[in-house]
Amino acid sequence: MSNKVDFDDYTNNYNELLRESTGFFSANEEYFARYKIELVRKMVNRKPGRILEYGCGIGRNIPFLRTAFPSAHVEGSDISQASLEIARRDNPDTHFFVERDEAHLTEPVDLIFVAGVFHHIPVAQRAGVTRKLFDRLAPGGELFVFEHNPFNPVTRRIVDNCPYDEDAVLLKPTELKSLIKGASLSVEGAGYCLFVPPRLSALTWLENVLGWLPLGGQYWVRGLRPT
Ligand SMILES: C[S@@+](CC[C@H](N)C(=O)[O-])C[C@H]1O[C@@H](n2cnc3c(N)ncnc32)[C@H](O)[C@@H]1O
Repeated sequence: MSNKVDFDDYTNNYNELLRESTGFFSANEEYFARYKIELVRKMVNRKPGRILEYGCGIGRNIPFLRTAFPSAHVEGSDISQASLEIARRDNPDTHFFVERDEAHLTEPVDLIFVAGVFHHIPVAQRAGVTRKLFDRLAPGGELFVFEHNPFNPVTRRIVDNCPYDEDAVLLKPTELKSLIKGASLSVEGAGYCLFVPPRLSALTWLENVLGWLPLGGQYWVRGLRPT
């Protein structure tokens, strides 16, 4: 692992780099955002009133969260100030804030969505970040974390070749589940996803039955803050 990547350096070409590395799967980088949020929408226990995307970057997922949960108040946070400037420009009705050590949210949220962030957090800081997410959830609130699947050789190759993944230390699902349990959340489900490129539309039904198979491009874990 090398020094921590500063996403401030990648704001202008983030989508381009993403397209270059994942274009073989879907040429439309919006596909990944829509796909993950649709999974979350189908799985949530109850309609969330307040949602936080932690590590939202340039805000690619925000429009899809707002569409999937039209009555919710949606916020985004990140440590990259330059990414948040783009997120604010593209989503003027959404509140974004820079993550610092102190808490920024005034009210607890019902749903926290985290996609592709944990592998950038230094290993020693991951437990602390997960506890912070627990603190921000209302009782009964849900945490959905999406991560790259380290068992998938194609995913590993993408990560090895992507400039903003230079600091990436991938986590296995068991590691992510331990972090979530260690932060006093109960693990309420997990699965692999992103098996079938959208152009093979006749096969997309497989996405619903292959969640157990450790060959998806990514995986998700769902945590619940007990009431
Ligand atoms: C690969 S990008 C993913 C951005 C967004 N979630 C998406 O799906 O497009 C990873 C993001 O995590 C942010 N990040 C890294 N460490 C973080 C931390 N400790 N707290 C919050 N965000 C962090 C980076 O600044 C970057 O914007």
